[in-house]
Order: sequence, then structure tokens, then C-alpha cells
Amino acid sequence: MTPGGNNYVSNVWRENIFDGTVVFCTGGGGDICSAQVKALVYLGANACIIGRNIEKTEKVARDIAMVRPGAKVLGYGSVDVRNPRLLREAVQKCASELGGIDFVIAGAAGNFLAPITQLSENAFKTVVEIDLVGAFNTLKATLPFLLQSASRAKSEKSARSGGRIIFLSAATYYTGVPLQAHALAAKAGIDVLAANTAIELGPRGVTANVIAPGPIANTEGMRRLTKPGNEKSVARIPLGRLGNVREIADATVYLFSDAGNYVNGEILVVDGGAWRTHGGD
Ligand code: HXC
Repeated sequence: MTPGGNNYVSNVWRENIFDGTVVFCTGGGGDICSAQVKALVYLGANACIIGRNIEKTEKVARDIAMVRPGAKVLGYGSVDVRNPRLLREAVQKCASELGGIDFVIAGAAGNFLAPITQLSENAFKTVVEIDLVGAFNTLKATLPFLLQSASRAKSEKSARSGGRIIFLSAATYYTGVPLQAHALAAKAGIDVLAANTAIELGPRGVTANVIAPGPIANTEGMRRLTKPGNEKSVARIPLGRLGNVREIADATVYLFSDAGNYVNGEILVVDGGAWRTHGGD
């Protein structure tokens, strides 16, 4: 547990700030995205999470629902973000069961370490299709609901925000990291997609931002992408430690809350300053 709050979110937020809102999240069964959704649900939202593995997605949905009595959290497994039809069906189902969609987290990702010499054309394409094309598919499928939510939030003139999307990316492509050509090319594309979404849809009240998590403890990304004995690498992070999922959840709450109203087209790097000292590491 991190000091200054509970396991889900720090104690600077009011507990009901997301009452009556709905979150739709791809990659929701993963360690980072599930923590993001957990924090939003704890603070009042209902949610729908999407994943490829039915058992895992449904279990994570049940776990998330436990954080607040009365919370509704739906888990749809067997939905691959590479399949626009399945994604649209899941979005429609989520919106009709929960009454719309106010916030979207495009978090589905696939990754592995591979040098370019051993990266097949299909391997590169697969990761770009999950990360970048999947993020676009998510935006397209949820956009009608984001637009509705943005216009409702505007007309209600309430403190309740809506019509916001967060894409998950990575700051490591600013300098480059070996064995990550496929994933980092996709993440660079995601940042551009977010920026264009921000400028094209901002006039209609929809905001788009990016969270770029750094090395976060106890996550699948760390398990897949780091080798044992990386203590030297941790020591070079300016804050001298790995991050935790709650710190990504807090950034998410900020961007979706009333506090983030005027933030649009930004990349919020949450990495303890790591990318600035880890060029090529
Ligand atoms: C080289 C590999 C490989 C590896 C798969 N491939 N793993 N190549 N090294 N370790 C190749 C395969 O041989 C195949 O190419 C192609 O990739 C597609 O593989 P499939 O297994 O058919 O694809 P699929 O079942 O769709 O699985 C997608 C996957 C898999 C990305 C390959 O690892 C996956 O499902 N991952 C999801 C979970 C995940 O990775 N989460 C971590 C996210 S971490 P050929 O040529 O043989 O057909 C994260 C942090 C980001 O996102 C931080 C930094 C960017």
C-alpha cells in the first residue's frame, strides 16, 4: 500500500466525483488498465472492460466491482481490438446496459522483446495492429457516445465532465530502446492519433490525452520486458524507484476529472523522470 490514500487512489480526490459516469476500457484485464478503472469505480463510475481472455476479463471485472458497494462493472472477454465489428458490438452493449459512455481508456497492447533481425513482418504488423490500429478502432467505436457525453456535460453546465479519451503510450520511444521497434513505432503513432483527435474533436467538446507510464512494479509489461538484475537501471531513474499502478490511476483521475478540463492533446509521462536518463537502455 502506498502512503497517503488507499490501494486504489490517493486521498486528494472526493469520493463521488465520478458518480453517474461510465468508463469503457480496452485491455481492462491488464495490471495498469484495471488499476485505472478501479480508481474511477471507487470514485463513483460504472465500467465496462474489454479483453481477449474471457475468464481473466470476467474475473478482473468482478474484482473491480468489489471496490464500491453497488458498482456495476461488466467484463466482456473474447473481444479483440483488431476486430472493429466485435468492438462496436461491445461498445453498444456497454452503452445500453450502463446508459452511455463518458470516458474511454484505449489501453490494449501486445509486446515482447525482439531484435529487428528476428522480428518477422507479421510480428511487427501484429503489435502495430493491436496497439495502434486497436486504439483507432476503439476511438471510432466509442466516438458517438463520447460526442453525446461531451454535449451533455456542456449543456448541463455541471462540474461533471464527459467525452474524454485517454490513450496509453510510452515515453521510451523519444530516445529509443533496443528490441522494441515494433511496440515503440506503434506508441509513436498513438501519440499522433491522440493529438489529431484533440484538435479535430476539441471543438465538439471531446478531449484526447495520452498517459505514458514508465517502469511500473508488478505489471505484465515489466515481467515481459525486463530481465532480472536490472537494479542499475532502477538506480538511474531520477526518483530512484519503480512506479506503482496507483500512480497511473491518479493521473487518470486527474485527466477525467473537472481538474483536467482544459487539458487536451497532452502527453502525461508518469515515469519518475526515467526516459530522460535512460536513452537507449
Ligand atoms: C519474436 C514473436 C514473439 C517473440 C510472437 N511473435 N512473440 N516474434 N519474438 N517473443 C511473432 C509470432 O511468431 C508471429 O509471427 C507474430 O508475432 C504474431 O504472433 P501470434 O502469437 O500469432 O499473435 P497473437 O496471438 O495475436 O499474440 C499477440 C502477441 C502476444 C503480441 C504476440 O504476445 C500477446 O497476445 N500479447 C498480449 C499481452 C501483452 O503482450 N501484454 C504486454 C503488454 S506490455 P510469425 O511471423 O511467426 O507469423 C506493454 C508495455 C509497453 O504494453 C511499454 C513499452 C512500449
